[in-house]
Amino acid sequence: MPQIVASRSKMLVSTTLSLFQILVFSISSAASNPVNNESIFQCLSTHTMHSTLPVYIPNTTSYSSILQSFIQNLFFLSPNTPKPHLIITPLHESHVQTAVICCRKHGLQIKIRSGGHDYEGLSYISYVPFVILDIFNLKSISIDIGDGTAWVQAGATVGELYYRIAEKTPMLGFPAGVCPSVAVGGQFSGGGYGYLLRKYGLAADNIVDAQIVNAEGEILNRESMGEDQFWAIRGGGGASFGVILSWKIKLVPVPSTVTLFTVSRTLERGASELVHKWQYIAHKLPKDVVIRVLISKVNASQAGQKTIQVQFQTLFLGETEQLLSVMEQSFPELGLKPEDCVETSWFQSALNFSGLPMNASLSTVTVNSFIGSFKGKSDYVKEPISESRLQGIWKNILEADNLNMFLTPYGGRMSEIPTSEIPFPHREGNIYQVSYLVIWNEKGTKAAKKSIAWLRTLYKYMEPYVSKSPRSAYLNYRDIDLGHEFQNGTSSYAKAKVWGSSYFGNNFDRLVQVKSKVDPYNFFRNEQGIPPVK
Ligand SMILES: Cc1cc2nc3c(=O)[nH]c(=O)nc-3n(C[C@H](O)[C@H](O)[C@H](O)COP(=O)(O)OP(=O)(O)OC[C@H]3O[C@@H](n4cnc5c(N)ncnc54)[C@H](O)[C@@H]3O)c2cc1C
Ligand SMILES: *[C@@H]1O[C@H](CO)[C@@H](O)[C@H](O)[C@H]1NC(C)=O
Ligand SMILES: *[C@@H]1O[C@H](CO)[C@@H](O)[C@H](O)[C@H]1NC(C)=O
Ligand SMILES: *[C@@H]1O[C@H](CO)[C@@H](O)[C@H](O)[C@H]1NC(C)=O
Ligand SMILES: *[C@@H]1O[C@H](CO)[C@@H](O)[C@H](O)[C@H]1NC(C)=O
Ligand SMILES: *[C@@H]1O[C@H](CO)[C@@H](O)[C@H](O)[C@H]1NC(C)=O
Ligand SMILES: *[C@@H]1O[C@H](CO)[C@@H](O)[C@H](O)[C@H]1NC(C)=O
Repeated sequence: MPQIVASRSKMLVSTTLSLFQILVFSISSAASNPVNNESIFQCLSTHTMHSTLPVYIPNTTSYSSILQSFIQNLFFLSPNTPKPHLIITPLHESHVQTAVICCRKHGLQIKIRSGGHDYEGLSYISYVPFVILDIFNLKSISIDIGDGTAWVQAGATVGELYYRIAEKTPMLGFPAGVCPSVAVGGQFSGGGYGYLLRKYGLAADNIVDAQIVNAEGEILNRESMGEDQFWAIRGGGGASFGVILSWKIKLVPVPSTVTLFTVSRTLERGASELVHKWQYIAHKLPKDVVIRVLISKVNASQAGQKTIQVQFQTLFLGETEQLLSVMEQSFPELGLKPEDCVETSWFQSALNFSGLPMNASLSTVTVNSFIGSFKGKSDYVKEPISESRLQGIWKNILEADNLNMFLTPYGGRMSEIPTSEIPFPHREGNIYQVSYLVIWNEKGTKAAKKSIAWLRTLYKYMEPYVSKSPRSAYLNYRDIDLGHEFQNGTSSYAKAKVWGSSYFGNNFDRLVQVKSKVDPYNFFRNEQGIPPVK
């Protein structure tokens, strides 16, 4: 009896056929879902060579808990969100091959999920019958200090990667994202940036090999996939080209002591002037300095008066004394004092920027540091915005609730890498990136609509001051609004070209060429997937 209960929540598809048949029988008699017929399970069973392959079916507690545990945008926890017919959670690389072969054979779309941070939930939502191929179990990290490289499986998080590097040495790091719970499967295939970007570029700029499963269910590496496909998966979004199993990355040197500070100012204490000045200097500073700007609405007084708070969050790859002199020279208006500065290791600085205590353990670096419903957008700025226009931005933020902006300086290494080196095109000429994020906590669509409207209003306000033709955007801050006005009556290529140009600039057409070659039948597709033909 306990076995049957377990079978309703989790099917262990194995080659033990007698047990397998019992499980299938118990499922097909219990479920009315037409997709739950024997053939897909039979296929999974026939092709499973290594151990057992866990498959979860709807209306069971383990299905729900697996589904929900990697829904990072709580907006999509709603009962109205379309649900997968199955969730397959490979324990072995060959399980991924099996899943691809069987889903393709049975005409089921797959959504590939590693960490589930997709802003629009595209890794676990679809409007056609689909299966989630959830990679979270494939998360091993093996570091070779000798040659300064690491193999990282797609389900590992950037927090775990940083932790594993720090375990080996404080002298190496990796230029990936700030939020520790994001997985490398999604992030590195879309770019991936953090406080090392001005020194070393993006995560995707530091990938030297990869393993993927293609639409035929074969495992390919850099050599066997060829340079075109290897180019495409480093910034073009993995989900259009195959299932990323693992990345081989080049670790980067960091000093054993780095310095960080966070200086906060409100409008009353000169925040506007400081942001204005920051736009002129941040992208020109030495590569060892990254000053990010976090803008949000806060209480100005107990009486409920609101103001804008700007936090200048900084990493310097060196010691306090040197940082003070750089700041004195370039940004004396900030008034940085020695007591604002904290000297620590690079790993601990990464913890600090993600809001974690500096003594976080391996289990806490994986914990999602961000809980809420949200929608985001992004922009690239090429010319400083005037102070009077900054006032207009503050007005938009003050009129909204929990509408935030994050400004990340470019320049340095970001400007040196050619636009077509990888699909991520936002290089020289961009002085900073804007990330907009509106967050709400109430359930239902009413709060969502209100918050999203605030975000869209601010985005509209920004239009004259940001990149144009196309208005650029960062793929990893996926925005389904892009190209929305072209939804009807246009070919899929023309439609895709709208968001494709925003995310990839002139690299879009090469992505289409690669896609046409490696997945002409468009098995690996999603709402913003690269289309195969022109
Ligand atoms: C709170 C938060 C903080 C963030 N901070 C940063 C940051 O500091 N820097 C930054 O650059 N980005 C940041 N991001 C954006 C983040 O990099 C992207 O959302 C990224 O795509 C998430 O990867 P994931 O695997 O966690 O998400 P998923 O939702 O699992 O995947 C995202 C996309 O990649 C595809 N995908 C996932 N795994 C695979 C795979 N194995 N093979 C092929 N395709 C795959 C999915 O199908 C989907 O299209 C942040 C996002 C959030 C929500
Ligand atoms: C799951 O439950 C819902 C309602 O609770 C029902 O409508 C649906 O048919 C069920 N699906 C399966 C596969 O049993
Ligand atoms: C379910 O069975 C039908 C009819 O036998 C078949 O056409 C269909 O492809 C099967 N679906 C899956 C997902 O196996
Ligand atoms: C991060 O460091 C700053 C000093 O720059 C400190 O004020 C803050 O408390 C730290 N945050 C955490 C979560 O430890
Ligand atoms: C700001 O003030 C409101 C009341 O006006 C209060 O509910 C809220 O908790 C305050 N927020 C913070 C961060 O202090
Ligand atoms: C981290 O330090 C704080 C106090 O500074 C302590 O309360 C906490 O238990 C420590 N956590 C770990 C994991 O050591
Ligand atoms: C697209 O067409 C649908 C119905 O076919 C309609 O509801 C929708 O408003 C149209 N969208 C645009 C942007 O024209």
